[in-house]
Amino acid sequence: MARKVKGQSNFQTNKCLLSYINPHAAIAAEYRAIRNHIECTSDNNKLRSLIITSPSTREGKTTATVNLAISKAQHGEKVLIIDANMRNPKIHHIFQTNIAPGLANVLAGECTLIDVINQTKISNLDILPIGMLLNNAMEDIDSSLMDDLLSMVTTQYDCVLIDSAPVLDALNTNKLASKCDGIILVLSSGKTQNESALKAKRSLEFFSKAKIVGVIVNNS
Ligand SMILES: Nc1ncnc2c1ncn2[C@@H]1O[C@H](COP(=O)(O)OP(=O)(O)OP(=O)(O)O)[C@@H](O)[C@H]1O
Ligand SMILES: [Mg+2]
Repeated sequence: MARKVKGQSNFQTNKCLLSYINPHAAIAAEYRAIRNHIECTSDNNKLRSLIITSPSTREGKTTATVNLAISKAQHGEKVLIIDANMRNPKIHHIFQTNIAPGLANVLAGECTLIDVINQTKISNLDILPIGMLLNNAMEDIDSSLMDDLLSMVTTQYDCVLIDSAPVLDALNTNKLASKCDGIILVLSSGKTQNESALKAKRSLEFFSKAKIVGVIVNNS
């Protein structure tokens, strides 16, 4: 169902794609371990939709999303990354696709999923960029349209990973987390304050029905 993407010229040099560029690197091994850990955590209940978030900005959410997705795709799972970080969308940039049409346009009823999902050069891995609206509104992320979108993509993909905005900066992240099967909380050692980590955990546990299935600590 996904469109083919032209370009992707700096694909081999993008640091975010390390698990793809060098599957033997230590970080790629770490992401394989994280993937296995999540599989064990989920028991027999498959976690089809996972949101990746962190308390604040620049703590490694996008890097974790992309590398975990690559690790899962290399393991034979059919994976979709959804960019839901309306504050700082990066997935289109990493995979060298257009920013729009994307999630915002589907939620606004302007496009169907088939118009917005892009294939990547990595087999088994597709992406859905953030998209763009004239009024820049993303309130629809909390709507039943988002529920419909998620239930549609989770029937077509083994795993859907959602790259999100920081949980303490965007109320939408809690709402989106409620719609997912699990949450991965990313923390950055030396950057994330203990208090922020606790606040983020409490906020996710309070507002969201989804369980935190793991915590990734960067720069440890
Ligand atoms: N495990 C890591 N080790 C070292 N550097 C990292 C690691 N993960 C991410 N980074 C670096 O940290 C910076 C921020 O990473 P990233 O864009 O993934 O964070 P983010 O939480 O998605 O940011 P934003 O809140 O803006 O969306 C980037 O320069 C990235 O290369
Ligand atoms: Mg990001």
